[in-house]
Amino acid sequence: MRVKFNFRLASFITALVLSAIPRVSAEVHSNPLNISAADAKADVHSHKGMNCATCHASRETQSPKSAAATSAGPIRREKVNQLCGSCHADAVRMKQFNPSMRTDQLPKYQTSVHGIKFAHGDSKVAVCTDCHGAHGIRPASDPLSPVHPLNVATTCQRCHADADYMKAYGIKTDQFSEYTNSVHHKAMKDRGDLSAPTCSTCHGSHGAVPPGVNAVANVCSTCHMMQAKFFDQSPHKDLFADGCATCHGSHAIKHPTDDFIGMSAGAACASCHGADDEGGKAATAIHQHLAALENDIAHSKAVLDRAEHFGMDVSDAQVELKSAGDALTKARVSLHTAQLSRVDEDLQAGSKIVAKSRTAGEAALAERQHRRRGLWIPLSAILAVVLSLVVYIREMERNGSR
Ligand code: HEC
Ligand code: HEC
Ligand code: HEC
Ligand code: HEC
Ligand code: HEC
Ligand code: HEC
Ligand code: HEC
Ligand code: HEC
Repeated sequence: MRVKFNFRLASFITALVLSAIPRVSAEVHSNPLNISAADAKADVHSHKGMNCATCHASRETQSPKSAAATSAGPIRREKVNQLCGSCHADAVRMKQFNPSMRTDQLPKYQTSVHGIKFAHGDSKVAVCTDCHGAHGIRPASDPLSPVHPLNVATTCQRCHADADYMKAYGIKTDQFSEYTNSVHHKAMKDRGDLSAPTCSTCHGSHGAVPPGVNAVANVCSTCHMMQAKFFDQSPHKDLFADGCATCHGSHAIKHPTDDFIGMSAGAACASCHGADDEGGKAATAIHQHLAALENDIAHSKAVLDRAEHFGMDVSDAQVELKSAGDALTKARVSLHTAQLSRVDEDLQAGSKIVAKSRTAGEAALAERQHRRRGLWIPLSAILAVVLSLVVYIREMERNGSR
């Protein structure tokens, strides 16, 4: 007699059997089973009607030669990508659930350093579940997902900041500590600015690779387009193997100040140029010209502030002076050409504005001076009238008392 396959019963038994299976892995980095009620509820797969057996009784999870190929069992780490890919790389199957869901994760993964090493038998690299978990899998947009932008760095560092785990590979393990000290991390974590990059923004999530020789500038330029445009016009463009990272670094990127250009200790240019070569001379000049405009702006601002303090209307000049600040900002971007003449173009536009607003401020102060002087004439006239009145009244009083 044929017994009709009872899916519910099967999965119930599966769950029971599975919970009796001792923890499978010796893998430090795999997720121990800990299906909390919240995880179970959040799990995208259970929302779509999948259950334990969907994954644990899948053919993909076991070796094809295994007699127990169709029965439930633990999932070997070596089979995880294949299991997840059995649906996620199957466009026809995924379309039934969500037509807009991408199905390129597995093929992309196979081109990544993770995927390539995995194909060569290295199971220490990240597999799907290292980044997504195996149970309680949430959409990437869920703030509790390990691949939500705010959590990605923590997910990657579980391996990449673990010196023991990574020892065999001879690559650095400082990316996380450096990144968490960067402007990018600050923008993202402190200000919640999800447009700032995290690990997967620069490296890709499934195609995780170090950005290659030409790709570095490309990665940065997806967001910093103007700097990239000017860098392309610089004498450095074809010389810097690490592109933008040559000066800014890749992980510990800091907010640069005007001291970052020039030849003083810590300046980007000083690490390659001598004070007397063309590059060094340009560096010093650009630094000085930036400082000069900044100084002039501060001076003009002080003049306008004084005029305003004395009640003169200098609001137009004050607004205009702000655009001199914009010129300074522009110059800090165009300095990526490393061409003094190009930077001076921006700075000179600023200087003109500064000169104009300083003139306006000085004129306002002179006007005030003038008005103060002008005030003496009516004041002395009034004083003379008052004095003669006093004299006149005294005279009247004296006459009356007689
Ligand atoms: C989306 C596929 C999927 C579903 C659904 C699923 N599992 Fe798993 N499970 C895995 C994978 C993959 C592993 C292997 C461990 C890993 O890679 O983290 C695993 C591991 C396990 C383990 C071994 C724990 C360990 O630390 O290795 C148990 C027990 C288990 N699952 C039970 C269950 C039960 C019970 C359910 C249903 C409530 C379930 N699983 C649903 C994919 C799934
Ligand atoms: C190194 C970490 C990492 C690995 C390994 C990884 N992923 Fe992802 N995955 C991410 C990140 C980060 C995101 C979110 C950003 C994005 O969509 O690219 C993501 C997003 C996804 C999404 C949602 C995509 C969408 O369009 O909304 C799916 C589905 C997915 N991954 C499946 C997989 C599968 C299947 C594997 C294994 C073949 C895998 N991932 C391996 C990090 C990883
Ligand atoms: C039986 C088919 C199947 C298997 C096996 C499977 N998935 Fe899924 N997965 C789905 C479906 C269907 C969805 C929901 C798509 C939707 O409606 O948005 C989904 C959703 C997801 C999402 C959420 C995507 C998003 O951002 O919205 C992630 C992440 C994900 N799966 C990862 C995995 C991982 C990792 C594995 C392996 C442990 C796995 N899946 C195994 C079918 C499967
Ligand atoms: C389960 C551990 C693990 C996790 C999690 C993990 N990786 Fe990896 N990753 C490795 C291993 C191991 C290598 C191989 C190192 C090598 O050969 O240089 C590697 C290689 C890389 C490389 C290539 C390095 C090189 O120059 O060879 C990049 C880039 C990378 N991972 C980025 C990421 C990012 C980004 C994340 C998170 C989204 C991540 N990894 C998550 C283990 C992991
Ligand atoms: C702003 C872009 C950016 C971000 C964000 C970023 N990286 Fe990188 N990463 C790079 C660049 C560029 C390189 C290649 C140049 C270099 O080695 O410094 C690189 C190199 C690497 C390498 C290879 C190192 C080696 O020694 O070969 C690994 C591994 C890596 N990054 C992991 C990470 C991890 C993990 C994170 C998150 C904590 C991260 N990266 C965040 C841009 C980035
Ligand atoms: C995904 C977009 C994105 C990518 C990719 C990116 N950045 Fe950024 N970057 C930002 C955001 C957002 C900020 C924060 C701006 C702020 O603080 O207002 C920022 C800030 C900076 C700053 C500091 C600016 C300042 O005024 O303090 C520097 C320098 C910088 N990035 C350089 C780089 C370099 C070099 C790369 C490539 C290795 C890179 N960025 C890749 C988005 C990006
Ligand atoms: C030759 C060294 C050098 C290279 C290469 C370089 N930068 Fe810069 N970058 C600087 C200096 C110096 C500053 C500081 C400007 C200032 O504040 O005076 C700066 C400032 C910045 C800023 C902040 C701008 C601001 O408004 O203060 C960003 C963002 C930036 N660079 C991105 C990039 C990107 C993207 C690339 C690659 C396309 C790149 N840089 C390549 C030297 C460099
Ligand atoms: C990683 C090394 C390195 C750094 C950092 C660097 N340069 Fe250069 N620079 C070079 C090399 C190499 C050349 C081409 C050879 C030469 O002319 O000295 C060059 C050329 C130049 C030139 C053209 C010189 C000429 O002869 O026409 C200028 C100008 C210049 N750099 C300015 C700067 C400025 C400004 C900075 C800092 C913001 C800077 N460089 C940072 C390596 C560097």
